[in-house]
Amino acid sequence: MTGSQQIGVLFVCLGNICRSPTAEGVFRGLADAAGLLERLRIDSAGVMDYHAGSPPDRRAQEHAARRGYDLSALRARRAVADDFDRFDFVLAMDRENHRDLLRICPPSRRDRLHLFLDFARDTTVREVPDPYYGGADGFEQVLDLVENASRGLLEVVRERLGG
Ligand code: 4NP
Repeated sequence: MTGSQQIGVLFVCLGNICRSPTAEGVFRGLADAAGLLERLRIDSAGVMDYHAGSPPDRRAQEHAARRGYDLSALRARRAVADDFDRFDFVLAMDRENHRDLLRICPPSRRDRLHLFLDFARDTTVREVPDPYYGGADGFEQVLDLVENASRGLLEVVRERLGG
């Protein structure tokens, strides 16, 4: 990979208003702090389009803002098969999202699809629980898991970019 090429990272959940925009905002923040933002293309999407065009859930925005992540400019969209050509990493928040993404993933791009928490360290948790119908604790747990996996992902991406 040459120095001018970008790596694409797409975070995917069900509605694209809670977990995946949180992951997009957190990963963007960490990449910016590491000076890698211009080497990356970062986006998020949902497997359903019910909330397409909407900003992130108000609770997700508030909890993220308390940790310094601004999600206000993000808008929901549906994940499409073409995303597997545009993004090197397509990261599902839970196994159901992973199954739904497999249905639209071109067979030749199967190696681009992962569970996001496969990049997390020191935890056996493999799914980011859906916080939509729960309370404040759920949004904090999302942020804890997403920050953990984002740190692991950033290391993998940094290596791929050549250190
Ligand atoms: P997300 O959460 O997948 O983390 O964005 C949800 C948002 C909306 C719905 C479900 C989950 N919903 O059913 O509308």
